[in-house]
Amino acid sequence: PVDPPMLRHGEFIGSLDCGTTSTRFIVFDRYANVVAQHQIEFPQYYPQPGWHEHNVDEMMETCDACIDRACDELEKLGWTKQSIKAIGITNQRETTVVWSRKTGKPLSHAIVWDDIRIRNNVTHFENQLKNVGIELNGEIKKGDDGIKALRSLTGLPLSTYFSAIKLRWMIDHWEAVRKAHDEDDLLFGTVESWIVYRLTGGAEGGIHISDVTNASRTLLMNLKTLQWDPVLLKFFGINASVLPKIVSSSEIYGKIAYGSLKGVPIAGLAGDQQAALVGNKCLAKGEAKCTYGTGAFLLFCTGEDIVESQHGLLTTVGYQNGPNSKPVYSLEGSIGVAGSAVKWLRDSMYMVATAADVNVLAAKVPDTGGVYFVTALGGLFAPYWDPSATGLIVGLSSYTTPAHIARATLEANAFMTRAVLESMKLDSNVELKHLKVDGGMTNGDMVMSILADYGGFSVIRPDMRESTALGSALLAGSAIRLFGWDISKPQTLEEVNTAGSTEFKPEMPHEKREKAWRGWQRAVERARGWEI
Ligand code: G3P
Repeated sequence: PVDPPMLRHGEFIGSLDCGTTSTRFIVFDRYANVVAQHQIEFPQYYPQPGWHEHNVDEMMETCDACIDRACDELEKLGWTKQSIKAIGITNQRETTVVWSRKTGKPLSHAIVWDDIRIRNNVTHFENQLKNVGIELNGEIKKGDDGIKALRSLTGLPLSTYFSAIKLRWMIDHWEAVRKAHDEDDLLFGTVESWIVYRLTGGAEGGIHISDVTNASRTLLMNLKTLQWDPVLLKFFGINASVLPKIVSSSEIYGKIAYGSLKGVPIAGLAGDQQAALVGNKCLAKGEAKCTYGTGAFLLFCTGEDIVESQHGLLTTVGYQNGPNSKPVYSLEGSIGVAGSAVKWLRDSMYMVATAADVNVLAAKVPDTGGVYFVTALGGLFAPYWDPSATGLIVGLSSYTTPAHIARATLEANAFMTRAVLESMKLDSNVELKHLKVDGGMTNGDMVMSILADYGGFSVIRPDMRESTALGSALLAGSAIRLFGWDISKPQTLEEVNTAGSTEFKPEMPHEKREKAWRGWQRAVERARGWEI
């Protein structure tokens, strides 16, 4: 075997990162340095309490504009845009997009991953599982066995989080979607699927694919076969013809059909949290990272083993390095709300002018004065999985100020992370001594100290924190055998990015940490069981 060639001086890989609130296009050089980038926020729609939608045409405009602007920046630096050899795409996962096969146009807004309108539908499918059951290995499983069978097929619990029930809701409630489904005009995809379709030509020859990491978040993919499972399609009442073809995370899928990067191959696809796993070099069994973005997502790599969680974690595909490679799996603790709680303090409570001001405000007090903020703004995700939970601020007194609430918002991250880590320990028998972190919320040192103190573990924050975008660029580079490494030889990745890191150690006395943890657990119990 010959070592893969390096990108040469003046050759680059691009990464299009379509997150929940903004899109970015980042251009990396052969040492994984960021050479050019552009970021644009797009509008969020909250039509009713608990609802969250995106206009996917607006989302696509931000993709096109970010690519164009970052290419302009690259040209200003004296490089040509032709020096971008491939792009990878990474995305907010589970968000459900529907469009017309005939026109290529969206049939509705997308329903975003943290939307909880389908709470009742989850209960409906739970009852179906209990009373009618589901087939597993030729046997009908009912009751609790039905719930376990679904988890074993998909790695996921029934929850508002995943795409299948969102898609079912769209078909049942939006006439245009129902009609398209009945008339075989409906195409469904998660965000990467929509972007690839549009970038490769839309109705004029666009390809309809979804990568395994994203497909593993739909409740429709069989975790072992990596294919859509007819049992699941029947259970959710979805026609197979609406589904994209499932592909690996690293291969040449097609070429961009227009614009600044016309003709450039799209060669890497991964959901943003899985891309961050790759970007953080957590490629082998036992390595973990947590990304604090809109939500916080802790992924623990289990190698080729599918570990079924008994403690509220998800089993998900971490990455698949090419169509002929075995998939690498991971356990995931998904915390639905992290940065979005800070955004809520800024945009809905008008408590601060910028997200960074939350840190400044929180730093004014040494503790929360007994306040807990259970940030269950979209129900509780891992490890609780309770859509009946709502946001709750408890422990208020005349002494409480906005600074205490700001601090309680940051502490909530630490408690949620600890809850996930405790489940991970029970499921995997591995106690993580260090947690590698990244994402927008990790920029502030105080946030990191709070995480270490209240979580009770060491936090390692790498200097290079563009790991989501880097992960998708590395997957694309691996497909075209460029970027100086081959993902099947993880050790060579060290050569790509040798940036340093900062460690935050827990300094809080054990008794104080445990008292705070007990308070958090009581607050979580009080947040459960509300109607919206
Ligand atoms: O599962 C949802 C997740 O992919 C969203 O990521 O980066 O928007 O918090 P982010």
